Amino acid sequence: MRIGILGAGDMADALGTRWIKAGHEVMISGRDPEKTRARAAGMDAAAGTFRQAAEFGEVVLLAVRHDTADEVLEGLPLRGRTLVDCTNAVEDGRLLRDMAAHIARDTGAHVVKAFNLCHVDVWRMTPPVFGGRPLAVPLSGDDAGAVAAVRELVGDLGCVPVDGGGLERAALAEATMAFMVGLWATGADAQAIVPPLEYVTGG
Ligand SMILES: NC(=O)c1ccc[n+]([C@@H]2O[C@H](COP(=O)([O-])OP(=O)(O)OC[C@H]3O[C@@H](n4cnc5c(N)ncnc54)[C@H](OP(=O)(O)O)[C@@H]3O)[C@@H](O)[C@H]2O)c1
Repeated sequence: MRIGILGAGDMADALGTRWIKAGHEVMISGRDPEKTRARAAGMDAAAGTFRQAAEFGEVVLLAVRHDTADEVLEGLPLRGRTLVDCTNAVEDGRLLRDMAAHIARDTGAHVVKAFNLCHVDVWRMTPPVFGGRPLAVPLSGDDAGAVAAVRELVGDLGCVPVDGGGLERAALAEATMAFMVGLWATGADAQAIVPPLEYVTGG
C-alpha cells in the first residue's frame, strides 16, 4: 500500500518505519524540506510536501499537532480519500475539540480515528504486546473500505484492530485519551480501571 504521512515528526517516524518494514511504501511530509528529507532518509521513506504526500497515499495519515492541522489540510485533495487521524486536541488533560469530526467536515475525506490512545514509544515496539496480549487498536470510521485499509495497517504493527464504531464514536476515543492523561498525571495505571471482558456485565 502507498501511505502518505502529513507530518515528519515522532508519530510519522514511528508508524511510518513500522509500515515500511511491513512492505508498504511511505512518503512523509513537512514544512521544512531539509528536515523532512533528513528524517525520511533515516526511515527509508520518500520525502515530499504536504500536497505530494496527500496525492501519494492510498491511505493518508494526519500526524501533526492539532493546532496546526487546519493549516496543513487547507486545500489538499482529500475528498473521498482515506484519511487516518491520530491527533489529540488535548491540553492540560482537557479535550479542546472533536478533531476527527472536524477534519471530516473540512476535508470531505473518509476519516478513520486510530492510533491516538498510546504514546509514540508504544508504536515503535515490535510488536506492542503487554502481559502476553497484543495491543488492541480501536478504529472509528463510517466508510467500510477506509476502515478495512486501516485494519490492515493495524495488523501490520502486530496489533489487533477493534471495531470502534462509526465516526461519531471518534470523539469518545479522543475524550478517553484526555481522561487517561489525567489519570497518568496522578501516577495511576489507567489500564487497571477496566475489568476483563467476562466481568463487564457483572461476571
Ligand atoms: N507523540 C505521541 O506520543 C503521540 C501519540 C498519539 C498521538 N499523537 C498525535 O500525533 C500528532 C503528531 O504528534 P508527534 O508526536 O508526531 O508531533 P511532532 O513530533 O511534534 O511532529 C509534528 C509534525 O508537525 C509539524 N508541524 C509543527 N508545526 C507545524 C505547522 N505550524 N505547520 C505545519 N507543520 C507543522 C512538525 O514539523 P517541524 O518538525 O518542522 O516542527 C512535525 O513534522 C499530534 O496531533 C499528537 O497529538 C502523538
